[in-house]
Amino acid sequence: MNDTVIMTKEDGVAVLTLNRPDKLNALNSELLEALESCMQDIQADAATRVVVITGSGAKAFAAGADISELHQQDGYSARLFAERGQRVFNAIERLGKPTIAAVNGFALGGGCELAMACHMRFASETARFGQPEINLGIIPGYGGTQRLPRLVGAAKALEIILGGEMINAEEALRIGLLNRIYPAEELVASTMSFATMLAAKAPLALAACHEAVQCAMDMSLLEGQFVEASIFARTCGSADFKEGTEAFVQKRQPTFRGV
Ligand code: COA
Repeated sequence: MNDTVIMTKEDGVAVLTLNRPDKLNALNSELLEALESCMQDIQADAATRVVVITGSGAKAFAAGADISELHQQDGYSARLFAERGQRVFNAIERLGKPTIAAVNGFALGGGCELAMACHMRFASETARFGQPEINLGIIPGYGGTQRLPRLVGAAKALEIILGGEMINAEEALRIGLLNRIYPAEELVASTMSFATMLAAKAPLALAACHEAVQCAMDMSLLEGQFVEASIFARTCGSADFKEGTEAFVQKRQPTFRGV
């Protein structure tokens, strides 16, 4: 793996740091390739239960797709360019392990789309969000036109996508794009403390929650409830379910093993 993403692992949490601070962590093909191989690694690693994605440097989470690479695209290659970003971000969303974006500065264009592909977004007070693609004569291509309206509604999404202006963390929290805001110096520690708390939960149940909530995005209420009942039954067949209920009765903390 190249060094455009640095991965560290501790206490069941993998931290991925986007590492092109000189370019505000703009997402070039090397970085997308590194992100994709991190996802493959994490998928195969049962000991990693939660993922945090953040940006290196004090200024940016990620300031978008790399505009110098984008500039070289034509009508044909641009389709592959968009599909590749979509594939990597879908892999994050469908990982089956909670992913949290710790947004430490600009999250623009592909950076905002990456944050939206994560399951939760925590940010510093100084974070700025936006989809400025309109100012380059294009539209968001890494899932932004699809995920933003699902998160904030079509009218707000269009205001952001058509206007191309940045919004601050307070506004992002108000419209439902963000889960939490922290002072910049507390962002990583507070996100890690939440991630470590999640990492102690039953892994099969964490994955099942993702699967069920994803159904809420993709299905009708009745279809979703049908799937929910079968996923619920599946989790009731796990050893971790026995452990969780036994621990409750015995008034002790459960130890979940992911089986
Ligand atoms: N792609 C490639 N390089 C980028 C980039 C991107 N999306 N965003 C920033 N950079 C680079 C700049 O070119 C600059 O590199 P240089 O020092 O070699 O010239 C470096 O990162 C720092 O950026 P700079 O513009 O000087 O910082 P700033 O504080 O003045 O402005 C932003 C910050 C985020 C407002 C500005 O960089 C910006 O508008 N970036 C593009 C955002 C965008 O349109 N994203 C969507 C892309 S589809």
